[in-house]
Amino acid sequence: MRKKYLITSALTYINGAPHIGHLAGAMLNADIYARFLRAKGEDVLFVGGTDVHGTKMEVAAAEEGITYKEYIKKYHDLHTKIYEGFNLSFDAYGNTDSEENKEMTYRIFEGLDKNGYISSKTTKRPFCADDNQFLADSQVGGTCPYCGYEKARGDQCEHCTKLLEPEELKNPYSTISGSHNIIFKETQNLFIDLDKMQSQIDSWVESKKGIWSDIAYTTAKKWLKEGLQPRGITRDIKNGFPVPKAGYDDKVFYCWFDAPIGYIGITKEWADKDPKNRHWEDWWLNPENVWHTEFIGKDNIPFHSIIFPAMLFGSKEPWTQVSFLKATSWLNFAGGKISKSEHRGVFLDDALTEFPADYWRYWIPANSPESDDSVFSFESFTATVNKDLNDVLGNFINRVTKMTVKDFGTTVPALGELTENEKELYDELDRLIKQYTNHMEAIEFRKALADLREIWVSGNNYIAKTEPWKAVKVDKARAATILNTGLNLIHLFGVLSAPVMPAKAAEMLSLFGKQDFAWPTDKAEDLLKTLKEGDSFTAPEPLFQKITPERKEELKIKYKEGV
Ligand code: 2FM
Ligand code: ZN
Repeated sequence: MRKKYLITSALTYINGAPHIGHLAGAMLNADIYARFLRAKGEDVLFVGGTDVHGTKMEVAAAEEGITYKEYIKKYHDLHTKIYEGFNLSFDAYGNTDSEENKEMTYRIFEGLDKNGYISSKTTKRPFCADDNQFLADSQVGGTCPYCGYEKARGDQCEHCTKLLEPEELKNPYSTISGSHNIIFKETQNLFIDLDKMQSQIDSWVESKKGIWSDIAYTTAKKWLKEGLQPRGITRDIKNGFPVPKAGYDDKVFYCWFDAPIGYIGITKEWADKDPKNRHWEDWWLNPENVWHTEFIGKDNIPFHSIIFPAMLFGSKEPWTQVSFLKATSWLNFAGGKISKSEHRGVFLDDALTEFPADYWRYWIPANSPESDDSVFSFESFTATVNKDLNDVLGNFINRVTKMTVKDFGTTVPALGELTENEKELYDELDRLIKQYTNHMEAIEFRKALADLREIWVSGNNYIAKTEPWKAVKVDKARAATILNTGLNLIHLFGVLSAPVMPAKAAEMLSLFGKQDFAWPTDKAEDLLKTLKEGDSFTAPEPLFQKITPERKEELKIKYKEGV
């Protein structure tokens, strides 16, 4: 059976509008990879959506003075619209609150229960005596016992990434009311016995060494070294899936239990819309034939490398586990912590009003926080847009089309005898396209985008060397060959840029009345014969606009970049 490529991108919380950090963390990389594989003709399913359960959303709804249901609809719709604006090409897109996800959550829970991986414990849970309610882990704030960070949450310290239990926090308080009147009150909850799966998970993680991104493997190993412990999967809160077990039906599943199952639930929701042709089991109960790549931010590593895999292993069905876990670090903002209320940083709705999506889609992977955190600044954004997109790619397209129109009209001139210059160009392109393809396959986008830029540069170098504006005066046939090659290069650049900049790439190909983005496998010499003598083309308006120094300064002030 032909290999299938399942791609999942971390389901985003919707407590607020998404910013460029969200795009850089998982979704954009996942989209570029999905588009690349589709262009290669692979069978791809790209799954994404929003993570709507949990107290974060309850708190946010209360702050807005609307019901939880109203809130999740409003923000799911907002996120969806923004991601459409960025051309994220999800095949299956949904949220974690669907009937299909409930069904999958129950199925996995029942499997775990039947196989002896669910235990029950009476524990003392944080209870705010002033507000008379239990608090979820993430609703308890306090000081991290490991690193001393004062705003750690009861589920995780976002500073040192340690997963925590709320009772470990020093000086706990309610993040809802601010009350420090926190007591720990008895309640009975269900746990998944991760400790019983320690050795199975350990050897499975070990088998991913050198495959998963380093940070994913080392974080998982560090966690395993500390020893897996039973982990609570039910909560005394209102919203979420009710627990289908006698004695626990007044509780709901913890949001991190049903969130990763959401990938499966969303796939099922998609399949159910066309049951004849789509089968969720082909993707999720087909481990031999599916290569599953998960794109996540680094804070999500323990859940995706240990807890979710343990849930699937423990239910003892042949689930498709993650093959390649791609975790990225943070994209920070030069002006400090991104905050909607303080109008600092770039939120994605604003980003789209300032520049075309593809400007962002180019800058972000070119500066992807692959191994270390990276920083967004309008200084860097302006330099990249002006140099790479405008000077290197945009000017190439303008010059070649203008010169051709001037001397040959709007049809492709004839390709005549080839010289050393063309042969050099072919060799260079063969080398660079191979390198670019390899980096795309390895999901090393920073390197891949440097290759893409080099490919554009090779076109500029060719034109600089062959000087068609001089050739046309002495040898028109030679000028025709150069400009034929130049027009073919524009077409090739469009195909190669498409996973990263789909809208601009579509514009580039539409100059020639084409929209075939199949990934090139031929030799450059043949690729540059796609457009033939006499084919007509349209002379474009400039595809990219420079950002002026004045505009850059305005943006820095508007988004509070270090000012
Ligand atoms: O960190 C987050 O934004 C989580 N909502 C990611 C969940 S990923 C998956 F498990 F759904
Ligand atoms: Zn910490």
